[in-house]
Amino acid sequence: MPQPPPLETPEYPKVALGEILENRAIARFTYVMKVHAPTVAPGIQPGQFVNIRTSDSLVPLLRRPMSVHRVIRDGPTATGFAVLYDVVGPGTRSLSTMTKGRRLDFIGPLGNAVTIPAGTKRAVLVAGGVGVGPIKIVAEELQRRGVRDITVCYGARDFEHVVPQEDVCPHGCRLLVATDDGSVGKRGRVTQFLDELVGQGRLTKDTYVFACGPTPMFAALQAALAPHGIRCEAATEEFMGCGFGVCFGCTLKVKEDDGKVGYRLCCADGCIFPLDRLVFDGHGHGH
Ligand SMILES: Cc1cc2nc3c(=O)[nH]c(=O)nc-3n(C[C@H](O)[C@H](O)[C@H](O)COP(=O)(O)OP(=O)(O)OC[C@H]3O[C@@H](n4cnc5c(N)ncnc54)[C@H](O)[C@@H]3O)c2cc1C
Ligand code: FES
Repeated sequence: MPQPPPLETPEYPKVALGEILENRAIARFTYVMKVHAPTVAPGIQPGQFVNIRTSDSLVPLLRRPMSVHRVIRDGPTATGFAVLYDVVGPGTRSLSTMTKGRRLDFIGPLGNAVTIPAGTKRAVLVAGGVGVGPIKIVAEELQRRGVRDITVCYGARDFEHVVPQEDVCPHGCRLLVATDDGSVGKRGRVTQFLDELVGQGRLTKDTYVFACGPTPMFAALQAALAPHGIRCEAATEEFMGCGFGVCFGCTLKVKEDDGKVGYRLCCADGCIFPLDRLVFDGHGHGH
């Protein structure tokens, strides 16, 4: 039976205008933008994203999705949010030129939130490249819930792409860094840390695992975690058009309960999915 439309529109997401408080370079290509947005900030949950208009003109036309990096608070009240972004093209280049006081047109919060099981005592968060964006808000949520043993595994291309520790995670987390060329931390892929953590007994079935990064990283994570039966929440970053389930521009492949391949929308069904459901066959994923 088709359901009747809801009588009231949900409070979120909202099309909103925020005010830029700060837009600061934290690495050669990476910025953190803080936005005053008191009508939206109270609705933001860790893992969600906002869809930002990056120009007043028609180009670029499409909004650019960005994970929420942090919620800004004034005492107990959520008043704004921050995003962490890499300058990779016209939209993010335009974003990087915006200065304090400018209005920011965005829609949010969008997407689903992390689901941290009650009683979690230990967490491992894995970031690849600019997938570091949502790590801090997830780590802060874990700390708020009393989780003290948090390890963040962060992999980046090289020295120029590594963001400072305070922008990766809050105090109290253990940070392991790897770069492709060894210019910071260990040389090689971020996933090398997972085998070490499993070996040390710090990564078990009871550990909450969250990951955000490129498709090859998710595939390597699947290979590392599946044999141990360790579950992981994966924040995917598919190319997006509308950002709320209308254009079908952000489909990704998943494994259904019966083992068949199905399709989901990154924006409306995700962007967070159980890692063991994602199907990586070289199609339909960004990065
Ligand atoms: C849910 C979600 C959350 C995201 N969170 C962040 C974030 O926190 N920080 C951040 O820097 N970026 C994030 N992204 C990616 C970001 O939206 C794109 O980098 C941005 O749209 C690029 O816009 P542009 O106009 O600057 O570059 P474009 O000209 O659109 O693209 C420049 C280059 O980046 C590639 N690219 C663009 N979008 C993606 C994508 N989704 N996946 C892989 N490659 C892409 C293009 O192929 C091209 O090579 C997120 C994407 C999604 C879907
Ligand atoms: S971006 Fe349009 S349906 Fe997901």
